[in-house]
Amino acid sequence: MNLVLIGFMGSGKSTIARSLSSLLQFALIEMDELVYKKTKTKNMHEVFALGGEALLREIELCIAKECAEKTNQIISTGGGIVLAPTPLNLFKKNGAKIIFLHAPFDLIAKRLENDLSRPLFTDLSCAKKIYEARLPLYLQYADEIIEIGSESPSHIASTILTRSF
Ligand code: S3P
Repeated sequence: MNLVLIGFMGSGKSTIARSLSSLLQFALIEMDELVYKKTKTKNMHEVFALGGEALLREIELCIAKECAEKTNQIISTGGGIVLAPTPLNLFKKNGAKIIFLHAPFDLIAKRLENDLSRPLFTDLSCAKKIYEARLPLYLQYADEIIEIGSESPSHIASTILTRSF
């Protein structure tokens, strides 16, 4: 089975995915990293400079098609994976569990305060609008909703394991 982590930027998908991957000995798939590999870029600003958000979404779909075929993977998605129905539906069709990491916006804003790596998180009020627009989409796809607060990534990973198997 695949476990697919979804959630807004800064919700902790990558860190928790690493923890799950080592607990379960499942392969770790970091979608953003695969986007860089496929576009021969080094970061998201370069991806956006090359082809804007449209290129990112196109590559994400391509990666989802490749990954959905395989199993025993922990897949850390980019925060915008919910914007088109196909990628997550492909995972679901193959029996994946979709785990939504639900972090409050204030916590995310605090975590990303000095992080300039994300083109869609440069202005706080724009980011908040995106967060609010996406929330119903994350909820729509989620098989499990995990509330993110002050718990450690390994504690959250154990909770996910208990709720998924
Ligand atoms: C994005 C989230 C980012 C990355 C890109 C766009 C989004 O991934 O894919 O900057 O649209 O929410 P993380 O959620 O891993 O930060």
